[in-house]
Amino acid sequence: MRRAKISIIGAGNVGATCAHWAAAKELGDIVLLDIPDKEGVAKGKALDLACASPMERFDANVTGTSDYADIAGSDVVIVTAGLPRKPGMSRDDLIETNVKIVKSVSENIKQHAPDSVVILVSNPLDAMVYTAWKATGFPTNRIVGQAGCLDVARFRWFLAEKIGCSVEDISALLLGGHGDDMVPLPRFTSVHGVPVSMLLSEAEITECVERAKVGGGEIVKLMGTSAYYAPASGSVQMAEAIIKDKKRILPCAAYCEDEYGIGGYFVGVPCILGSNGVEGVIDLKLEGDEKKLMDESISHVKDLVGTVKKMFPELA
Ligand code: NAI
Ligand code: 2OP
Repeated sequence: MRRAKISIIGAGNVGATCAHWAAAKELGDIVLLDIPDKEGVAKGKALDLACASPMERFDANVTGTSDYADIAGSDVVIVTAGLPRKPGMSRDDLIETNVKIVKSVSENIKQHAPDSVVILVSNPLDAMVYTAWKATGFPTNRIVGQAGCLDVARFRWFLAEKIGCSVEDISALLLGGHGDDMVPLPRFTSVHGVPVSMLLSEAEITECVERAKVGGGEIVKLMGTSAYYAPASGSVQMAEAIIKDKKRILPCAAYCEDEYGIGGYFVGVPCILGSNGVEGVIDLKLEGDEKKLMDESISHVKDLVGTVKKMFPELA
């Protein structure tokens, strides 16, 4: 049987950790690609990971490269290329540099892996998904952004810690852009079917919601660079759903027209992920504050995309 092939662009913290989680799950062969100056790093990390395979018991070819010809035939390409934020920076501060990087990466994906599903991770995520869509010209179902899986996992961990229960039993939902105005939804959050409002007070839930919103920033302050274990785990969870055609329902940045009244932008919504990429979007009926917060988050995503169009008219 043919093994699936996953290419990861950017062999830095998030990219290398994606390779690690994907190898541990034995998802397929892995190509780790970076710029020519960092080819040694990509090759070194790939070799190091491959040498763990006899102990971790996964069969996969793990290779490092700076040559896009090596991504040919990829089922999934995960894009982590670009600058991470430093303390004091917002994700949006990265826009100019990272649009240039993601545009050139996307043009290479279009040429060398034209049938792949592309998962964007680089920040600011909501602008990068748009950039990749424009620069590849791929159908919208094959362009998707990772943010919701990470943000909701943070929310789940903070809730589990507060309740004192297993993270496995927390099922939660979160919508909107990957900014501090993301929209966690306590109404759709339960602990093995028990509404979270029966286990925690409103103040405790709000504390978890607020911590999830700034969870990325909390880690940047601690480490001086951005998170990578959980972001890579979220990206590989999506890659797994696509490669195994699992039809998982995961919060991802997906293209929406009528859904949530978004009108032609990529925004974080619950998606059905399978071998065709985004195979559907679940359009929930939001109430009161939920709708107000979602509208604010959508408007931030639109502003970000507006900035991309202004800076790079060729992407308009
Ligand atoms: P990093 O600095 O450790 O790695 C980035 C890598 O990209 C470097 O190795 C660099 O050489 C490479 N790169 C730069 N230009 C490239 C190009 N044209 N082609 C191929 N590779 C190129 O950064 P880290 O921590 O891995 O973060 C990567 C990106 O992911 C950042 O933009 C960060 O903000 C974003 N991020 C997004 C998250 C999300 O949830 N969406 C979560 C965490 C990080
Ligand atoms: C995070 O949320 C920086 O987007 C990255 O950790």
